[in-house]
Amino acid sequence: MTASESLGKDLLGLEHLSSDQIRLILDTAEPFKEISERAIKKVPTLRGSTIVNLFFEASTRTRISFEFAEKRLSADSVNVASTGSSVSKGETLVDTARNLEAMRIDMVVIRHGASGAAQFLAERIESNVINAGDGTHEHPTQGLLDMLTLRDRFKRLAGLRVCICGDVLHSRVARSNIWGLQKMGAEVAVCGPRSLLPNAIAEFGVTVFERIEDAIQWADALNILRLQLERMQGGYIPSLREYNRVFGVSRERLERAPKDILILHPGPMNRGVEIDSDVADGPHSVILNQVTNGVAVRMAVLYLLAGGRPELAEAAKGGGAR
Ligand code: CP
Repeated sequence: MTASESLGKDLLGLEHLSSDQIRLILDTAEPFKEISERAIKKVPTLRGSTIVNLFFEASTRTRISFEFAEKRLSADSVNVASTGSSVSKGETLVDTARNLEAMRIDMVVIRHGASGAAQFLAERIESNVINAGDGTHEHPTQGLLDMLTLRDRFKRLAGLRVCICGDVLHSRVARSNIWGLQKMGAEVAVCGPRSLLPNAIAEFGVTVFERIEDAIQWADALNILRLQLERMQGGYIPSLREYNRVFGVSRERLERAPKDILILHPGPMNRGVEIDSDVADGPHSVILNQVTNGVAVRMAVLYLLAGGRPELAEAAKGGGAR
C-alpha cells in the first residue's frame, strides 16, 4: 500500500483518520523538521508539483506556514484570496477550483468560512484537497501540529491529560484536537462557560470542567483557545474583563497547580483575555514551538498526499517524493 493510498486523496479532518494515519503524519514530520534549520531551507522533493492556496478567510500562521512548506519542498505555489479574485464578482467555489484545475494544478489548500467547504470541493475536483480550516468544523493541520508539539515534550500522547479551554463552540481547532488526541489515546477535557460549549459536548466523550481551577488541577497541558469575537453575535459572555477574571489562564492560577503545565495556544491570542502575557511568554509556553512544528507537519502532509513514501521521508530531504 502506498502512502497516498493509506492517507487517501485529501486531508479534510482528523475525525475520520485512524491512529495509524495520524502517527504516519507525525512520524513523517520528524525528518522534515531539520530542513527548516538549514541555511538553505530547500529540497527538491516536490519539484514540478503545482499547489494553489485558496484562502477565503483571514490567516497569518496557516497560510504562511503552508507557503513555506511548499517552497521548502520546491513546489510551485500560487495564492488566491477572495478579495482580488473573481470570487468577489460572484464566481462559485467550484468554478474557481475547476478553472484552476484547467491550468493543471496538483493540490488545493483551502481555508473557508463555511463548515464542509473543503469536503464539498474535494468531491468535485481531482486535485488533492487539504483543509486549512473550514468554518467551525475542523482544522486538521493545527490539530496535528498541536499533537506533534505535545509529543515532543511528553514523548507520548497516550494517557496524556489535555484540557481545551475557552471558546470550544466556535472552534475548529477544538474539534480536530478532540478527535485526534482521543484516537492517540490521550484523555481530553474541555473548560469554558456553558454558553461557549456545544450543546452536544457530552457526545464528544470529553470531561467537562466548569472551573478553570479544576482544569488546572487535572491537566498535563492546556490548549487555550481564542475567544472568536468575530463569530459571536453577542450575549455569549458578560464582558471580556469578566471572562478573564473567571476563565483567564494567569500565572497565579498556574502556580496553584500540582505540577508544571504545558501551555499551548493556536493563535492569534487575545492577550489579557483568555491568556495573560506572563503565561503566553512564560517558561511553560510552547506557543512558538507549535508554529515551528506547523511547517514540518504541513511538509509531511504535502509529501504524503503527493505519493511520498513515509519510510523514504528521511531520504526525501535530499531527493524526490516518489
Ligand atoms: N492557528 C491559526 O489557524 O492561525 P491563523 O488563523 O493565523 O492561520
